Amino acid sequence: MGTHINIVEIGPRDGFQSVKEFMPTEFKLEIIDGLVKSGIKRIQCTSFVSPKAIPQMQDAAVVAKTVIGKYPQTSFFALVPNFRGAESAVENGVKDVSVVVSLSESHNKANINRTHEQSIEEIKKIRGEFPDLKITVDAATVFGCPFEGRMEIPPLIELLGKLHDVGIRAFTLCDTIGVAYPAQIRAILESSKKAFPDSIFNLHIHDTRNMGIINSYEGIKCGAQSVETSLGGLGGCPFAPGASGNTSTEDFVYMMNREGYETGIDFSIVLETARKLREKAAGLYSGHHINIDKVHQDFT
Ligand code: COA
Ligand code: ZN
Repeated sequence: MGTHINIVEIGPRDGFQSVKEFMPTEFKLEIIDGLVKSGIKRIQCTSFVSPKAIPQMQDAAVVAKTVIGKYPQTSFFALVPNFRGAESAVENGVKDVSVVVSLSESHNKANINRTHEQSIEEIKKIRGEFPDLKITVDAATVFGCPFEGRMEIPPLIELLGKLHDVGIRAFTLCDTIGVAYPAQIRAILESSKKAFPDSIFNLHIHDTRNMGIINSYEGIKCGAQSVETSLGGLGGCPFAPGASGNTSTEDFVYMMNREGYETGIDFSIVLETARKLREKAAGLYSGHHINIDKVHQDFT
């Protein structure tokens, strides 16, 4: 048996949010069925955000309630931008959320209309009100910002410290616009882990420069708790100009299975599900690739 690794699927949120035309809820559920069947254990199923900001996520309540009820063995989580989102998530049976905060103040403002201070206050309020809710902070633009450019490590550690002070022990470091490279992945993961040895760090990678796979792999080798990937490579933040798709789940599963890691995920089922997604979403997709043509079949 190879080393076990955690591949977390975020397509139903980051992927679907980048599709402009509304995808029928039934179809979203069908895709999640395929993801569960493939053996993926943790899935970000939706986000509880303003339907004006992201109309695609207007069916968050139905999606969350349905999949949580249907698949008790799968760990589902949802993204929330504020207290109101956390409240709706909890009302709909969600026990696990990611709250997004950007390292860059300007992206935090563009994305969720808050300063760092306001975001931290809001997280404190969410923790206070919902002590049993599992919270991960998605630290966005950690590797670079569409407005401010290069991001440095000391301000990241400072922000993580403030979040640590309000009780956060799980972080997802996000390359929101896909500018990271392996040495940066190493440096940021190592500094973060060293500064907060009691916390876990996941990675969320975009694939703007075709470095999604190598950055995700580097993350695994540097001890990231999990790597988030998206079916079909679909993804992108509407409030981050230039953001493109994520590391594609099928490509990453293929590589990690071949490399001898234990993913627990069946590549053929992932691929079949990616095909289904492409049939429906390709014409509607606003980002730059659904790249499943690169891989025609598993050769085993
Ligand atoms: N769910 C649903 N609606 C929400 C909401 C939530 N979590 N939070 C706010 N709203 C609604 C309000 O009711 C209000 O609606 P109205 O205009 O019909 O009255 C509107 O959104 C603005 O509310 P306000 O409290 O002023 O919001 P804000 O400006 O402080 O924050 C966000 C705006 C954060 C809610 C909004 O920008 C958002 O949802 N962004 C999502 C960002 C995202 O998902 N990015 C991609 C992932 S990283
Ligand atoms: Zn993303």
